[in-house]
This record gives sequence, C-alpha cells and structure tokens, in this order.
Amino acid sequence: MIVDLPDLAAMEAYGARIASRLRPGDVLALSGGLGTGKTTLSRAVLAALGHEGEVPSPTFTIIETYDQLSPPVVHADFYRLDTPAEVEELGLDDYREGAVLLAEWPENAGGFAHEPGCLAIRLESSGNGRKAIVEPGQDWLGREP
Ligand SMILES: Nc1ncnc2c1ncn2[C@@H]1O[C@H](COP(=O)(O)OP(=O)(O)O)[C@@H](O)[C@H]1O
Ligand SMILES: [Mg+2]
Repeated sequence: MIVDLPDLAAMEAYGARIASRLRPGDVLALSGGLGTGKTTLSRAVLAALGHEGEVPSPTFTIIETYDQLSPPVVHADFYRLDTPAEVEELGLDDYREGAVLLAEWPENAGGFAHEPGCLAIRLESSGNGRKAIVEPGQDWLGREP
C-alpha cells in the first residue's frame, strides 16, 4: 500500500493515524535514505500520543525512551550500528517490554518484518514531498494503518 505524504502537514496527519492504532509490542520499522522523513514521522507519532517538547534524533544516543506515554514508546535509530549483534548489547528487548518501538534504519538491527506487530514503512522522496510504502504485519490486519 502506498501513502502520499506531500508535505509536513500530511506527515503529521499520518503520524496521528498510526499513533491511534498502536498497541504495546508493535514496531514501526522506518526505512529509507537519509532525509526521507523517518525522524519527522516518529515525531508526529510521539506528538499525537501526547508528548510535549523536544524529540531529539537518537542518531547518537541510539535509544530514547518516552515512558510516560500510553503506550510507552522507545525511539531508536540504528544508523550507527555496525552489526545486528549490537542490538542485544544495547538491551533493546528490555526497553521494548510493554512499549512500542519506533525504529529508524531497522535493517541495521537485523530487521523486524518477521514480527507480526511490525508495520514496515519505507519512505521515499516524491517531488518536493514523500511517499510511504507500507507493509503491515499480521497483527495489523483490520487496523487499517
Ligand atoms: N512529507 C514531507 N514533505 C516534505 N518535507 C519533508 C517531509 N517529511 C520530512 N520532510 C523534511 O525532510 C527533512 C529530513 O527529515 P528527517 O525526518 O530528519 O529525515 P530522516 O530521519 O529520514 O533522516 C526535514 O527537513 C523535514 O522537514
Ligand atoms: Mg532520522
């Protein structure tokens, strides 16, 4: 399924749509090159869940947590990982307990598409805006992501 995201307003709206459908244990796997809007969409999801204030890009910290939200959110950027094995060293599974994972550069962490709660979104440039190629996992059936 392809979603047109011509501008930032469309990004906000799509983030809100996803946010309203999230359940603990889900992964939003955000792939796409540098500058395609992965952090922007993550911020839109967090804002729609009620997060106020800054959302630092986790490029350097790799993991940022938003425990106060419902569901709680773990925002990760795996860009800097050299091998998927480093995911275990980070303790990602512990962070994910009862939370939603927003994952930028998911392929660097071994990918999440095998998880039924994975909503895989590939962002690409499209004119001045973006488009999203969306592949919902089994747990997303009927949730109309
Ligand atoms: N749908 C969109 N249309 C136009 N510009 C966008 C859109 N989504 C994001 N941008 C812009 O693209 C730039 C890079 O976005 P960012 O989310 O940091 O990318 P990434 O995390 O994928 O590297 C930002 O300046 C942002 O405002
Ligand atoms: Mg980013």
